[in-house]
Amino acid sequence: MTAPLSSRASSGVAAVIVAAGKGLRAGGEVPKQFAMFRGKPLVRHSAQALAAVGVAPIVVAIPEGWDAVAQQALAGIAAVRLVQGGATRRQSVALALEALAPDQPECVLIHDAARPDLPQAVVARLIEALAGQAGSIPVLPVVDSVVRGRDGMRDAAVSRDGLYRVQTPQAFRFDAILAAHRAWDDAADAGDDAEVAEAAGLAVALVQGDERLRKVTFAEDFEETPVSERYPRTGMGFDVHRLAEGEDLWLCGVKVPHHMGLAGHSDADVAIHALVDAILGAIGEGDIGDHFPPSDPKWKGASSDRFLAHAVALARRGGFGIGNVDVTIICEAPKIGPHKQAMRVRLGEIMGIPADLVSVKATTTERLGLTGRGEGIAAQAVATLVPRFEEIEQ
Ligand code: CTP
Ligand code: MG
Repeated sequence: MTAPLSSRASSGVAAVIVAAGKGLRAGGEVPKQFAMFRGKPLVRHSAQALAAVGVAPIVVAIPEGWDAVAQQALAGIAAVRLVQGGATRRQSVALALEALAPDQPECVLIHDAARPDLPQAVVARLIEALAGQAGSIPVLPVVDSVVRGRDGMRDAAVSRDGLYRVQTPQAFRFDAILAAHRAWDDAADAGDDAEVAEAAGLAVALVQGDERLRKVTFAEDFEETPVSERYPRTGMGFDVHRLAEGEDLWLCGVKVPHHMGLAGHSDADVAIHALVDAILGAIGEGDIGDHFPPSDPKWKGASSDRFLAHAVALARRGGFGIGNVDVTIICEAPKIGPHKQAMRVRLGEIMGIPADLVSVKATTTERLGLTGRGEGIAAQAVATLVPRFEEIEQ
């Protein structure tokens, strides 16, 4: 559980949660604020987050006729009080503020029920900013280009300089925002409470918002990230190639001096082949033969580097980065030890990751079996892939 803000920071801070909308864009059988999100009703997330930082009371504006559902959704959160909301968001806020007036809080956080994730640091920044201003709001800079559109066509570019996306909670000195709402012309609507504050001549400070404060708006916003995209994935690979006279010996992308080399259709880098299979295995993309058939003359003598680069690119496209890889080369000769560091560096280069995420080990089979007799070299590999939400490539 989140630790409360220091008692000084949260004392005298009350909250309004507006949960009286219809959730038309999200659709669904119940208004979105009562729909299940990550195992509990959406509104419960924001109410619990505010209660956890010591904010009280928390007045929740709900739609007419939804009392029983709201009570159940918010059961057990001691600071919560329900009030009936209005026809617009602004009216819902105004009604909730009126319900708070007898409590005479010093400050109030006005928050959307539809924003389930509320980082404590944002609340702290908002309250801190209130020391100097009547209001403070969390914002994020606009990073994409901005254009005006008309009839589905690009009309004109708009400079994004000085533009911000506005989030909630928005923080205000209670008396000031209550007076501002009372003074607002009810015929007009307001985008947010900062607009109401501005109309009343209140100064509103911008503080840094947080991407996690995103608003659940559409039905797809309720879809959980699939388990397959949230957790690391692991794959393993194994390969053997025959040792032959007159061949170069490539292992882990490094040419190793030896009187024999590995025979195969490509450069027969057995260690890279095992690693490619491990990566393909982790993303469920078959094996190296599916992607680079030995029957295809195109791959004759091909450097295995490109097979590895291809597997890494496939993983990236699927939303995964390489967490770490571990390769074991199994042979009696040559000695691998002196080349291990160069192999780690080379594999890291091909995969575009630091060498310390790459392990190369070697072992013998005590002169037993095909590797023990020097007939061939075997390799096995394990790869762990991690989801890369921010960096998914097109
Ligand atoms: N809200 C409210 N009273 C209203 C309208 C909206 O309390 N009359 C609340 C919503 O419940 C929500 C927040 O204001 O928590 C932000 O509004 P929005 O995301 O637009 O929610 P809805 O209005 O419910 O959704 P939609 O616009 O898709 O119908
Ligand atoms: Mg709305």
